[in-house]
Amino acid sequence: MRDAANPVENNDELSALKSELGTAVASAATIAALDDIRVSALGKKGRITDMMKTLGTLSPDERKARGAALNILKDDIASVIDARQKILSTAALSEKLARENIDITLSPRPQAEGRIHPISQTIDEIITIFASMGFVTAKGPDIENEYYNFEALNLPSSHPARDMQATFFLPEEAGTKYKTVLRTQTSPVQIRTMMEQKPPIRIIAPGRTYRCDYDQTHTPMFHQVEGLVIDEHSHMGHLKGCLLDFLREFFGIDDLPIRFRPSYFPFTEPSAEIDIGCKRSGGELKLGNYGDWLEIGGSGMVHPNVLRNCGIDPDKYQGFAFGMGIERIAMLKYGIPDLRTFFDADLRWLKHYGFMPLDIPNPAMKE
Ligand code: DAH
Repeated sequence: MRDAANPVENNDELSALKSELGTAVASAATIAALDDIRVSALGKKGRITDMMKTLGTLSPDERKARGAALNILKDDIASVIDARQKILSTAALSEKLARENIDITLSPRPQAEGRIHPISQTIDEIITIFASMGFVTAKGPDIENEYYNFEALNLPSSHPARDMQATFFLPEEAGTKYKTVLRTQTSPVQIRTMMEQKPPIRIIAPGRTYRCDYDQTHTPMFHQVEGLVIDEHSHMGHLKGCLLDFLREFFGIDDLPIRFRPSYFPFTEPSAEIDIGCKRSGGELKLGNYGDWLEIGGSGMVHPNVLRNCGIDPDKYQGFAFGMGIERIAMLKYGIPDLRTFFDADLRWLKHYGFMPLDIPNPAMKE
């Protein structure tokens, strides 16, 4: 008696076919080879399909038993083929991924030709540090008129301090009240900002400035960064804290001291020049807490007249301003001895003092 529960295994012919096909499937190395086996067994003219076709010649009892056995065989073979198909397609995908893999670890060209100019680099660093303190960067035009550059900054034309800055005047245009000048300072950006915005204001304005001067420490074009804070309560203490934080971060010197030396600027009252600690010995300059001092800019509490000129009520609002020479602090930080070389466009100089695009030269910003 045959075991009805296992009609394939109990039929020599069918179990032989099953193991033959099983072996063929297991050794099929490609999806195409597997498809051939599928067609040869289960396709329209396949071996199992052919066997199915002969069922009609059998007696009803035989047909029932053989039909059931053939169906089981068919399902068994189909699932063995499916399982093999999964293995082969996973392997094919892995092989394809490995073949198409792109090596993105290649390093950039070691000798890039271009360099970032130290002034651009320094401006980027200034903006980054002040941005972390909540300052927004503002801009104004290089070609200004006397109103913004002088008058609104509490420097009327009769004021003797106008001579403090050797001004480039542009040819006069008939009928204009104020002469056109190349801005001698970034301070007019204070005026433009206060005329456009309501307090609270917290801006810096880096940019080009122009004065009729040329020697080892003066060039006709140079850069300044202006700072302005206007609200209802900022005072000299905030000014000092703000500059102390900036300068320590910029120079990467934790105990760098700063000193306020009383001074005069028409647009601030009181006014102070900003000195940073240093030492000079044997022709060398070192920054830090050494007892000697070096000037790097001007500052003070914004003069009530300046606020009034911009439509801001000085009884309600107050604040501080400062201005620093960008070349000055760049020379100190990067050890560049002569100001004029910044603008000589000498490629050897730029190769030496310039920066690679991916450099992170500010020590305090390394972490
Ligand atoms: N504008 C001044 C200069 O060029 C520098 C300066 C001093 C700017 C005091 C300020 C300030 O904002 O408050 O000499």
